[in-house]
Amino acid sequence: MEKVIEVKNLVKEYKSFKALDDISFEVCKGEIVGLLGPNGSGKSTTINCILALLDFKEGSIKIFGKEMSPDNYEVKQEIGVVFQEVAVFEELTVYENIDYFCGLYVSDKSIREKFIMDAIKLVHLEDFVNFRPKQLSGGLLRRLNIACGIAHKPKLIFLDEPTVAVDPQSRNNILDGIRTLRDNGATIIYTTHYMEEVEILCDRIIILDKGHVIASGTSDELKELVNIEEKVTVEVNDLDLKYVDNIKKFKNVDSVVYSNRVLSVVYKKGKNNLVELIDYFRKENVKYDKIFSERPTLNDVFLELTGKELRD
Ligand SMILES: Nc1ncnc2c1ncn2[C@@H]1O[C@H](COP(=O)(O)OP(=O)(O)O)[C@@H](O)[C@H]1O
Ligand SMILES: [Mg+2]
Repeated sequence: MEKVIEVKNLVKEYKSFKALDDISFEVCKGEIVGLLGPNGSGKSTTINCILALLDFKEGSIKIFGKEMSPDNYEVKQEIGVVFQEVAVFEELTVYENIDYFCGLYVSDKSIREKFIMDAIKLVHLEDFVNFRPKQLSGGLLRRLNIACGIAHKPKLIFLDEPTVAVDPQSRNNILDGIRTLRDNGATIIYTTHYMEEVEILCDRIIILDKGHVIASGTSDELKELVNIEEKVTVEVNDLDLKYVDNIKKFKNVDSVVYSNRVLSVVYKKGKNNLVELIDYFRKENVKYDKIFSERPTLNDVFLELTGKELRD
């Protein structure tokens, strides 16, 4: 697999504070790689070091096999960046903003016109081309920010928390757009503190905490790291505690809690746990409202590795 980014033993200090402490990872061509971590874990710092916007104390970074430098225009042309903070010109329209950013890399006017329309279509801003940023909702503004960053059709795209505080419709639109960019051949680095997003979007996930890579792999590989197979939830009124005690003795059960009419059963391993529980209730003639099983989440992975929740 062709390596697009190679980060080795990266250390970044702000004065004496180590924001990144020995970070290493690689990104291959055509992947969507998620950098997942709570606020302050070092996601933006990592991206800014890769882009040579920040200098760093130790380590090495290569993009397309070459060392990146701030004035490497040739490499920059191949890169699209969507920063965490929206950065567009208030006095320009949607179309003019995209034209400006695209124009930094694409000088041919007719090619640019096509590229701008492609970007507008990708983020569905067709009805807003003549609007100015002030007239756009938060979600539409984020979509404009993305269109500005990717209109020149870069091979490598960085998106830093592009969905913070956007409405669900814009969120779905943004995630769909990113998939389309990947399907069209781009390699994508996506940072977020929303674990649900990396799960549905990313081919591979790198989990950061306090400037360290604490785990990386596919969503399934990461879930293998936790000792939980599944969590079964049962909504049931007035459950006799003898059933709770009996379920605790089931072979694969790790823990059972009954509180507020919800029974939570955590299974350590096993494949037909839900069926076993349903059969047990049927046999004992216990009536319940709802029963469902969930696989561990990336939050469980984070919790097991760090002792704290990933959520804000
Ligand atoms: N310019 C800066 N000066 C000092 N500390 C900074 C600066 N930028 C970021 N930091 C600190 O570095 C750590 C990582 O920040 P950042 O990369 O922005 O995290 P994330 O993007 O994951 O939220 C945080 O503790 C943050 O407070
Ligand atoms: Mg950040």
